Amino acid sequence: MKGVILAGGLGTRLYPLTKITNKHLLPIFDRPMIYYPIEALVKAGIADIMIVTGGKKSGDFLSLLGNGSDFGLKHLNYTYQKGEGGIAEALGLCAHWAAGEEICVILGDNIIEKNITAAVRNFREQDGGAKIMLKEVHDPERFGVADLRGDKVIGIEEKPRNPSSNLAVIGIYMYDARVFQIIQELEPSDRGELEITDVNNWYIRDSSMTYEVLTGWWTDAGTFDSLRRAANLVAEGGANHGEKEQ
Ligand code: G1P
Repeated sequence: MKGVILAGGLGTRLYPLTKITNKHLLPIFDRPMIYYPIEALVKAGIADIMIVTGGKKSGDFLSLLGNGSDFGLKHLNYTYQKGEGGIAEALGLCAHWAAGEEICVILGDNIIEKNITAAVRNFREQDGGAKIMLKEVHDPERFGVADLRGDKVIGIEEKPRNPSSNLAVIGIYMYDARVFQIIQELEPSDRGELEITDVNNWYIRDSSMTYEVLTGWWTDAGTFDSLRRAANLVAEGGANHGEKEQ
């Protein structure tokens, strides 16, 4: 299984912090933001990783991360997203590299307390399809929100005004090789982006989507409030804790 970290975008919600650098290079307590999703994948046993960056400072990722030796890796892959085409468009850039393997995708500003080792293992054991991770939040309208019926997720709504649950779809997704064909057939949303929520709803309609509710805290870090929250959570207890805790 391969891993993809999406670290493009303009980070406009953090302006002017992102005026001269990429959001994912900003500090979260004692490390650059991008360190946390890399570590999350490596701890889950995924060592073949693609980083999708963008913007004027994309070269800084190479200077910072090199071949991944800080994470015990021998190699890292990089690719470049032009403009603001959305999460699904960024993922689509990895089609050639993924070469038919299953992938685990993590948004570069998502940080978790524990780890996804068990979820990755469970996905590998399921018969293809996709898996999303959910987390209870107090502000679901900020996220993709899952609508559950029994033990099935029956739909996801992106940033709903009236959320049907308090379960956010966090930025960690697992897909079989069909994901790249699905992305090719997507239409841009009202905000002109290819939406990962549309990809996930495709798998839900296909009845091949599973989900797990994350244990431990989760946060993104794309707004001033969540950036501060992320720093505080990491400072208080660290992130990506060991395999047996999940
Ligand atoms: C994106 C996804 C959303 C998800 C969130 C998690 O939102 O579109 O479904 O809940 O990441 O961080 P964005 O942060 O791009 O607004």
